[in-house]
Amino acid sequence: MARFTLPRDLYHGKGALEALKTFEGKKAMLCVGGHSMKKFGFLDKAVSYLNEAGIEVEIIDGIEPDPSVETVKNGAERMLKFKPDWIIAMGGGSPIDAAKAMWIKYEYPDITFEDMCKVFGIPKLRKKAHFCAISSTSGTATEVTAFSIITDYSKGIKYPIADFEITPDVAIVDPDLAETMPKKLVAHTGMDAITHAIEAFVSTAHCDFTDPLALYAIKLIQNDLVKSYNGDMTKRDTMHNAQCLAGMAFSNALLGIVHSMAHKTGAAFADLGAHIIHGAANAMYLPKVIAFNAKDETAAKRYAVIADYMGLGGNSTEEKIKLLIDYLRKMNDEMNIPHCIKNYGADSYPTENGFVPENVFLERLPEIAKNAIADACTVSNPRKINQEEMEKLLKCCYYDTEVDF
Ligand SMILES: NC(=O)c1ccc[n+]([C@@H]2O[C@H](COP(=O)([O-])OP(=O)(O)OC[C@H]3O[C@@H](n4cnc5c(N)ncnc54)[C@H](O)[C@@H]3O)[C@@H](O)[C@H]2O)c1
Ligand SMILES: [Zn+2]
Repeated sequence: MARFTLPRDLYHGKGALEALKTFEGKKAMLCVGGHSMKKFGFLDKAVSYLNEAGIEVEIIDGIEPDPSVETVKNGAERMLKFKPDWIIAMGGGSPIDAAKAMWIKYEYPDITFEDMCKVFGIPKLRKKAHFCAISSTSGTATEVTAFSIITDYSKGIKYPIADFEITPDVAIVDPDLAETMPKKLVAHTGMDAITHAIEAFVSTAHCDFTDPLALYAIKLIQNDLVKSYNGDMTKRDTMHNAQCLAGMAFSNALLGIVHSMAHKTGAAFADLGAHIIHGAANAMYLPKVIAFNAKDETAAKRYAVIADYMGLGGNSTEEKIKLLIDYLRKMNDEMNIPHCIKNYGADSYPTENGFVPENVFLERLPEIAKNAIADACTVSNPRKINQEEMEKLLKCCYYDTEVDF
């Protein structure tokens, strides 16, 4: 038996934030990131809509990008004091994911981080609060997914928490919030979204319910992402829906090793001064993983279906896959994303000598490869991978070399 779960309600379209006026409850804990939601006036709007609904609001702000275990613990303590019956998270993937994990710890104060990370092992939530997610970036789709990504900085590892229990009750997909994104964020989050859709489509857990969502998301992203990056606000609005469709697909079909590798490299070089931003990591690794997975016959056929649906041409399966890889690499070029870790500059732009020196990469490679294999996303990848292959694949992602194994 398989399960397909989505939020009970999804409010969408420009101005959908106003749905907050219709909420019923007593107290809402509103969780946001750094400054963007405040700066662009969305935080004040959300508070006033909730007040209009007769709901008292407290705010947890300053949730950092790639939130830490400590942030989750502190937030849950605030919730235990305030006792909200709504947790409302607004912003990018980071504050929403942090709030999801805070929610678990608020409902079960004694739960450990290790317990939270047991895949599909979260006890029943909603005894204390319901959860609403309002996304301001067009990529993670965490507003509709069963996932939360929390970073353990003592280990330099991102851990996915995965359980349908944390699929939000309500998602608000209001493109007004995404219109303020700077270009670089559009590029990274958009490439994250297309990775979600492609990984979901070839995942071993894909099904008739997830395939149409994934394919249509790919088509929309193909048509709209680069234009959105170049300032077309109509396309920016459709991208907000497209990433959400991709999220509906991958939340139920799961992902693959692009994400395993992104999770395990993201914070692995944080001591050198920079993270490999999630979407940028995916953008660099996706073409390499397609080449690796395409050695599996079923996966190859499915990549060819994607290429056909995108109208890329090609006569054989092999040719179609090559065209798909070329297309994705062209998208990276058009949005100034590097092709490999070696050329990943501290500001995330391509540069001759990136911030991860070769010797440091090679020294950490065995451990990173081991962790990537152990990542929850590896299970549903269409081709099995061992330590030696993962190390080789990561090397291709470091040097931008051909995947021929
Ligand atoms: N839960 C999931 O299913 C899932 C899926 C993929 C990724 N993730 C995780 O999500 C995180 C990344 O999330 P993200 O890419 O949305 O970025 P983010 O939440 O980390 O935000 C990045 C930056 O963008 C700013 N920002 C956000 N919205 C803005 C807006 N509308 N205008 C201007 N600035 C804005 C933030 O203040 C922040 O500085 C990573 O930790 C990643 O691992 C989660
Ligand atoms: Zn992702």
